[in-house]
Amino acid sequence: MIRENIKQRITELARQSNRDELLWISGYVAGLAGGHIAHPAADSPLMDMPVNGSAAITTATVIYGTETGNAKKIATQVAALLKQQKIVVKLVDAAQYKVENLAKEKNLLIIISTQGDGEPPLAAKPFYDYLKSGTAALHGTNYAVLALGSTAYPLFCQTGIEVDEWLKRSGAKALLPLVKCDEDFDAEVNTWIADLQQLTRSAAQPAAQTVVKKGKAKVRAEVTFNILLNDEGSRRQTHHIELKLLDQFAYTPGDAVGIYPHNSAHAVQQIIALSGMAADYAIRYKEEEYVLSDLLRYKLCIVHLSLRTIDKYATLTGYDIPETRMDLYDLLRIYPVKNTEQFIAAVGLLDAIAPRLYTLSSSPAAHEGELHLTVLRLPVMHEEKTNYGLCSDYLSQLEAGTVVDVFLHQHKHFQLPPHHADIVMIGPGTGIAPFRSFIAERDVAGASGKNWLFFGEKDFVTDFYYQTELQAWHDTGVLHNIDLAWEHGPGEIKTVTDALLLQAEELWQWINSGAYIMISGEKDPMSKAVEDALLTIAQQQGGHDEASAALWLKQLSKEGRYAKDVY
Ligand SMILES: Cc1cc2nc3c(=O)[nH]c(=O)nc-3n(C[C@H](O)[C@H](O)[C@H](O)COP(=O)(O)OP(=O)(O)OC[C@H]3O[C@@H](n4cnc5c(N)ncnc54)[C@H](O)[C@@H]3O)c2cc1C
Ligand SMILES: Cc1cc2nc3c(=O)[nH]c(=O)nc-3n(C[C@H](O)[C@H](O)[C@H](O)COP(=O)(O)O)c2cc1C
Repeated sequence: MIRENIKQRITELARQSNRDELLWISGYVAGLAGGHIAHPAADSPLMDMPVNGSAAITTATVIYGTETGNAKKIATQVAALLKQQKIVVKLVDAAQYKVENLAKEKNLLIIISTQGDGEPPLAAKPFYDYLKSGTAALHGTNYAVLALGSTAYPLFCQTGIEVDEWLKRSGAKALLPLVKCDEDFDAEVNTWIADLQQLTRSAAQPAAQTVVKKGKAKVRAEVTFNILLNDEGSRRQTHHIELKLLDQFAYTPGDAVGIYPHNSAHAVQQIIALSGMAADYAIRYKEEEYVLSDLLRYKLCIVHLSLRTIDKYATLTGYDIPETRMDLYDLLRIYPVKNTEQFIAAVGLLDAIAPRLYTLSSSPAAHEGELHLTVLRLPVMHEEKTNYGLCSDYLSQLEAGTVVDVFLHQHKHFQLPPHHADIVMIGPGTGIAPFRSFIAERDVAGASGKNWLFFGEKDFVTDFYYQTELQAWHDTGVLHNIDLAWEHGPGEIKTVTDALLLQAEELWQWINSGAYIMISGEKDPMSKAVEDALLTIAQQQGGHDEASAALWLKQLSKEGRYAKDVY
């Protein structure tokens, strides 16, 4: 039996296709089902592909761009499967790939994720910039792009979309159409691999089995402690949360964890009451069976819906809805569904909840078997009322005994420098998190490198996070220097940037003696202002002009001595 939605899509596709295209599609689909692709149409990109052994592909280069390892995992499996088909495969990290070789590639398979607000993974940025520049002439290259992303972000799979576009612009020929994958990417990835195998397989060879499994292995951790770090009267709500690991989990200082937040029970109840459905109504979502209340509580985005979801809802219901993000409850209240079927269809339009990352403030050596988080409960204004960001609100309310799932997000570019190296740590607000981990780790290890911390927040009286610990580390000589900045304090030093500029001379000596500079916390404006301050210091203290100061910082970054964990 064919599912109704698939049948509708095929009918639509058939309506739009001419006879040749229909013949091609029928052969292609038969090939997918039975292992044979027949009669590609003359203008199909697949025509350029040697299928069924006629002139089979013999080489392929698989390039991956990753932040958290999913793309690497998939790329490794793709490479292994192609090797089983006797293809000579080169597997390369985009960070290591020599872009001048691009034009020599015959068959290029790119697997790349999107990060930040529609940005490439940090290490893949030079590769991405090269493609963007349009320098490459790739008329002899075939390619396929697998884009990893999450529909919970407004710029879904943006990097993969751009890479695909730029390759096309450079004259390369698409072996397969771009494939965009959401967080639960197994099905799309397996289909992509199967399609590739169809293109690379000689008739005699059976397809190797596709076995990609979802990348982010979750472990369980139990909340043991959740306290507010701010004193009464503070403008901030920053929580220190301790979790006891229930499963094996290895991390290093500088790493983060990913957490999937839950929606509030109250918000879910409101929606269910409005819908008139039973909370335990059985409903399917992405091939899995759920109870309605669980689906809304744990799986789907029901607050601050994306404009894409609102737009799809408008198409579904026929309302003229302005382009404004709003909660599902308000959407259903203001623009009610007509019946149960429409409500179920509307639920099907919702994005899955995306995980949020939190840099760990614990150290594996000092806090064995534990994970510590430093979380700002993020205020967001909604109709002149203060709400809070979904995950930070969820975390700030976790009670001792609650078990949460977390996954590792390695920060390969933000790790504790070698024992002997000095570190300048700039971490206002929750940016303190990795530096608490660094100092605690170095304290246990007896590392010889010196540590200098720049910390800042709103007010000295209420917002000096981890004051007792920092004071003790300073007293025992683990923390050599600590400079503080208070936005609402009486002094002149309002921001960490002010503090850095005040200490320019000594700071320059540390940097010249090999110190690492590491920044954590707010991306904009904090990390940008800090970077500007470093460039100013290089000019004032090091005799650089504007251009050479920029080159100096670039070089420092290349050597791994200038690193950022900013968000
Ligand atoms: C590598 C990395 C490390 C990080 N480490 C830390 C850390 O150690 N500590 C920490 O506290 N954070 C950290 N973060 C940030 C963290 O991942 C989350 O982004 C942060 O907690 C906010 O998530 P949230 O779910 O609370 O907010 P979200 O719900 O995702 O809200 C994000 C934004 O969406 C808008 N928005 C959301 N809901 C509404 C609404 N109802 N009405 C209007 N606008 C709305 C607002 O502009 C809001 O600022 C880190 C991020 C990264 C990438
Ligand atoms: C901080 C952060 C920002 C992200 N931003 C986006 C985004 O803008 N667009 C998108 O489609 N996916 C985004 N994602 C989702 C990732 O692309 C997705 O999790 C992907 O599977 C990660 O693959 P990787 O492990 O190879 O980096 C983001 C994920 C994180 C953790």
